[in-house]
Amino acid sequence: MSDAIAHFLDIVRRQREQPGPGLIGRLVRDHGTELTDTQIAGLADGLWTGGLESTASAIALGGHLLATDLAAAGVLRRGGRDDVDGWVEELLRYSSVVQVAFPRVALTEAELGGEQILAGVLVVCSLSAANRDARFGDSAPHFMPDRGPRSHLAFGHGLHRCIGAELARVELRTALHRLAVRFPRLRAAEPCRVTGAQLSFIYGLPAVPVLLDGG
Ligand code: HEM
Repeated sequence: MSDAIAHFLDIVRRQREQPGPGLIGRLVRDHGTELTDTQIAGLADGLWTGGLESTASAIALGGHLLATDLAAAGVLRRGGRDDVDGWVEELLRYSSVVQVAFPRVALTEAELGGEQILAGVLVVCSLSAANRDARFGDSAPHFMPDRGPRSHLAFGHGLHRCIGAELARVELRTALHRLAVRFPRLRAAEPCRVTGAQLSFIYGLPAVPVLLDGG
């Protein structure tokens, strides 16, 4: 992440001289006097980190489900709008790729879930736990693409709710539906060894070994 910030700072400094056609150039042109280099680099980094690893990880986890849960793969392959949308919403809930929301600071004292929260303390909400809340019933730990409309917290909540949520949905619907249709015999390679990503608060799979034609 430090390397990424340094990379964006370098671009911002160059675009102070000659603003490019993209987001950084536009921020320099329209808000260059109000924002420091570090702030513009931070905004660019937020979009880049927020938009890349999260969606890439969700696609990898969806691909793994396609290769291992053949009944679920069949629902996605049917390809009706409700099938695809429901599949992706359930994937977002079930995989909860961004495990925690951004930390919040309690402005006032409050009681939440039987816990006393003092004013000024840092509060971190586990999105993966919220997405397996008891209100989902016994089926919470299971992937059920035909679960029907249910709200989830995969994109967080409130003022800082994910700004890229709709883009992410379009990307996931397109990528996973096309993968299911293009490779109807997609299967996990045996033995399927899948390990979670290390050193990241985003839950991802560094590799998903599959056989494209079912082997
Ligand atoms: C599966 C894909 C994604 C998931 C699960 C996800 C999830 C999240 C979560 C949980 C937050 C924090 C919300 C909170 O604390 O209440 C967040 C914030 C954010 N996300 Fe995403 N995200 C995804 C894709 C994207 C994409 C595609 C973009 C942009 C291209 C993006 C850009 C951002 C930005 C800029 C923020 C900070 C918003 C703010 O502070 O106001 N995300 N995302």
